[in-house]
Amino acid sequence: MNPIFKRTSIRQWTDEPVSREQILDLLKAGMQAPSAVNSQPWEFAVVTDPEVKKRLSEISPYSHFAADAPVIIALLCRKENSCPPYNQIDMGICTENILLEAVELGLGAVMLGVCPLQDRMDAMAEILDLPEGVEAFGLIPVGHPKAEKEQVSRFDESRIRWID
Ligand SMILES: Cc1cc2nc3c(=O)[nH]c(=O)nc-3n(C[C@H](O)[C@H](O)[C@H](O)COP(=O)(O)O)c2cc1C
Repeated sequence: MNPIFKRTSIRQWTDEPVSREQILDLLKAGMQAPSAVNSQPWEFAVVTDPEVKKRLSEISPYSHFAADAPVIIALLCRKENSCPPYNQIDMGICTENILLEAVELGLGAVMLGVCPLQDRMDAMAEILDLPEGVEAFGLIPVGHPKAEKEQVSRFDESRIRWID
């Protein structure tokens, strides 16, 4: 099945580690995203250090479970040579590519929102010691899903205007 229709947010994982090869496949998918004027503003921090994962999981009230993920991919936006009005859109598409690749690899992941909430962005920048010009965008905890989760169809014909 097309991974778009299989993808669902996974917030519980087994202890099985995610291999370096799998992480690279996830990031390869992320970096394959389209972006405004092909500016590719993304950078990533791959976090497996338990203490850093814990601190990242405390950035928002809705992300505590991330501490239990074998790895957290921190999504970062490099401002230099980017196309600022579209940075968030570019980063969002990159994020979805990673989430879909996770499905392909039999992994489970969830997007955790950080940008544009300044307090969360500042906290993430501090934890990861981000340099000037690199902003926090979001977090993707990822691992092997603890349980199978079915996705439901959200197709809603009333959302479509046919202009003939
Ligand atoms: C911008 C954005 C921010 C999100 N932030 C969180 C979050 O902080 N915590 C969380 O558990 N899920 C978060 N999610 C996941 C959504 O809750 C989830 O995608 C939505 O409920 C639909 O469920 P599904 O992904 O299983 O289809 C976020 C998703 C997006 C796109």
